[in-house]
Amino acid sequence: MVMKEKIDRLLAEVQSFNAENAETLEQFRIRFLGRKGHLQELFDEFKTLSSDQKRDVGQLLNVLKNAAQEKVNSLNETFKSGKTVSLSENDLTRPVNFLEAGTRHPLSLVRNEIIRIFSRLGFSVNEGPEIEDDWHNFTALNFAPEHPAREMQDTFFIEKNPDIVLRTHTSNVQIRVMETTKPPIRAIFPGRVYRNEAISARAHCFFHQVEGLYVDKNVSFADLKQTLLYFAREMFDASTQIRLRPSYFPFTEPSAEMDISCNLCGGKGCGFCKYTGWVEILGCGMVDPAVLENCGIDSKVYSGYAFGMGIERITNLKYQVKDLRMFSENDLRFLKQFESAG
Ligand code: PHE
Repeated sequence: MVMKEKIDRLLAEVQSFNAENAETLEQFRIRFLGRKGHLQELFDEFKTLSSDQKRDVGQLLNVLKNAAQEKVNSLNETFKSGKTVSLSENDLTRPVNFLEAGTRHPLSLVRNEIIRIFSRLGFSVNEGPEIEDDWHNFTALNFAPEHPAREMQDTFFIEKNPDIVLRTHTSNVQIRVMETTKPPIRAIFPGRVYRNEAISARAHCFFHQVEGLYVDKNVSFADLKQTLLYFAREMFDASTQIRLRPSYFPFTEPSAEMDISCNLCGGKGCGFCKYTGWVEILGCGMVDPAVLENCGIDSKVYSGYAFGMGIERITNLKYQVKDLRMFSENDLRFLKQFESAG
């Protein structure tokens, strides 16, 4: 019977129907349930049937009407609640989940900036191992076996083999580079270092340094001072002052510690610089001739300078990070603040 077939066809259409948006749903509603829609048309036709046929078709007609009405209601619900409609199992038009772009870690930003500044002065970059032997971390750097300076850099020894340490500074790379390269040498060595420190806002058992080394004929302390002044002014600002204070390192002679004028108060004195106007940022000095000789470099022909700075310290100064632990906690509220830096 023609009418039954028509109803079956329309029922199949209703069942497989899905709407991409409210507009296509409305078109569907008008087409089926509207005043001139399929159902109205079918009911008009229904009236012309004999009562026998009416019994047969009436039920089917109601099934179609309910199915169409339910379809409209349920799709309406979905659009109202903002849920996406899956048109099929593999809907290739569905928007993908938004993947947030990461941010560079503040320590990486500062390390890269340090590398950029020194590369403008002709320094290249070398790296060395974090698991180091006693020779490269201490002995070749002129630390005597029982020297108290080893205690200043208390570190993690492997008990089975006391010769292996987690390096306490990046100065080990000085030795590795001087052992394998003929002067002139002009390079910086960024990397992670380890010390046996209780973890607090101001100390951590690992942190990062950048070492610098320049070995050539006629290298003087004046070269060192000018290089460090250039660095400080590029890293902070052009009005930054530097101050060198005599200090001691076994591998440099003479040795100094360098302060910069506090970049928070401009040297006037504030809580950050403990009202001194200065903050210490690095250790430096002329490479001790004994160290050059340990690496097979003739100390009568060559001289050199070296310096080493903490990346965390520079980052604290640049971005006013007050607690060292933030650098390794992976807290997105902290890391996301560096989204646009560098
Ligand atoms: N290695 C020293 C430290 O970690 C810093 C330093 C490097 C000092 C090079 C002088 C020359 O404290």
